Amino acid sequence: MYVEIQAPTRKPITVPALQAMKRDGCKIVALTAYDASFAYQLEVAGIDLVLVGDSLGMVVQGHDSTLPVTLEAMVYHCAMVCRGLRSSMLVADLPFMSYRDVDHALQASARLMAEGGAVMVKLEGGGWVCEIMQRLTEREVPVCAHLGLTPQSVHKLGGYRVQGRDAAAAEHLLDEARAVQQAGASLLVLEAVPATVAERISRELVIPTIGIGAGVDCDGQILVLYDILGITPGQRPRFSKDFLCDHGSIPKALRAYAEDVRSGRFPTSEHCY
Ligand code: KIV
Repeated sequence: MYVEIQAPTRKPITVPALQAMKRDGCKIVALTAYDASFAYQLEVAGIDLVLVGDSLGMVVQGHDSTLPVTLEAMVYHCAMVCRGLRSSMLVADLPFMSYRDVDHALQASARLMAEGGAVMVKLEGGGWVCEIMQRLTEREVPVCAHLGLTPQSVHKLGGYRVQGRDAAAAEHLLDEARAVQQAGASLLVLEAVPATVAERISRELVIPTIGIGAGVDCDGQILVLYDILGITPGQRPRFSKDFLCDHGSIPKALRAYAEDVRSGRFPTSEHCY
């Protein structure tokens, strides 16, 4: 088996390019990946942004949360994914506790970027995390924020639950979204929040929002790769969709996902809260 990467047919997706996509009303198509072969498939399908998510703890390592994922594992998977990509933007999750203070966050980000090839790191939460984001961006580390259902907080949240449902929680979410933008984040993932709240945040913020269970009005969409291929054990989350069963092959499923996101056909109301 060998992977021969064709010359890229499109320009690399950069941080300013994502900003321009929001400005021009072009949806950002994102998926997770954990190895070089799948990364190559995503590259060929024209996926704009590939996230090495700490969801790998659940879908690859078989844990029941993302908490056991180590920085070592993130660097290892990130480097593999990087070898499969040419033009898609590579983003990597900072795993649980790796950004507990500024020094750890800087060191962890340096490893993900220098050894893993990531061009951006993702951190979960607002509040105290904003200071960390600010210090990272001051040192030229592009940052993606992640609000709403933040899986690293599963025990505090009491489970994988929709966030921002009542008026006060929605206002709090909006305040946090403003704060992460102010702290320098270039991108914001919104997970499992009502579509109306995500729409408001996406309209107000200058930076692009990427939704997962957050409705069609986000500036882009992301899903866990193994969910859209129907191979994650257990029940698929409501916000996901098995594209493989409708399209018959992995390349076709990936292309269908990309087309459905770009055209606004995905997500529909059945995938939203
Ligand atoms: O870890 C992950 O895969 C994620 C996405 C689901 C957004 O954070």
